Amino acid sequence: MNSAEFIGRVFAELVGGDLHLYAIENPQGFGHFGNRPRLQMVAEYCAKHWPGDLVEIGVLHGTTTKLFAQIAREHDRRVIAVDPFDVKSPRYGDDYYQYFLDNIEPWKDIVDVVKLSSMSAEAIEYVKERPLCFAYVDGLHTYDACYSDILAVGHCNGIIAVDDIHIKYNYADAIRRAFWDGAVTLSKIPLDNSLSREGYLIPGGV
Ligand SMILES: C[S@@+](CC[C@H](N)C(=O)[O-])C[C@H]1O[C@@H](n2cnc3c(N)ncnc32)[C@H](O)[C@@H]1O
Repeated sequence: MNSAEFIGRVFAELVGGDLHLYAIENPQGFGHFGNRPRLQMVAEYCAKHWPGDLVEIGVLHGTTTKLFAQIAREHDRRVIAVDPFDVKSPRYGDDYYQYFLDNIEPWKDIVDVVKLSSMSAEAIEYVKERPLCFAYVDGLHTYDACYSDILAVGHCNGIIAVDDIHIKYNYADAIRRAFWDGAVTLSKIPLDNSLSREGYLIPGGV
């Protein structure tokens, strides 16, 4: 099974399995959390098939980071977590950096926290120097930031997941454009399913 067939199977979970039931029972929640089981499957696939570490740009409370960290643990990899932790939002909480650290405590030995904007030269250089098997782009939701983040992880050997290309917020159009433009710039194959909030950029010819 190649990467495109695998992502096809991941998307098929949307209409065939538990995720479909979840979608029916949680029409509001589906777009919100339904991505995590798929991201977990894809990250695991990448760790099995390609060398390198995992990176998440925009980590918030670390709920998804924990899933990636467990995969990293099982495959002797590391997770790079990039986030400035400086957004003022009641939804995030006053000190979400500490919340994040508490959440990833069991995996802190294999999580490299980059407490910077992903658009800073320092963060970009740090990420670009690390071999990657999987990347998850979910940081600042503007075209420029998302496109910059996609390019920063463009050397990823495996699959790049980009969140929120289909979501009922007005920023989705900008994120989707960044996703497609990133695919062209990096010569990756864009897999975009409107039932799934995230899209996947896969390496050509693999
Ligand atoms: C939607 S949340 C991420 C959710 C997380 N990926 C998850 O699966 O639970 C967006 C995150 O992007 C972060 N963020 C905002 N501006 C950023 C920037 N310039 N660089 C990196 N991350 C940024 C915010 O601090 C926030 O934690």
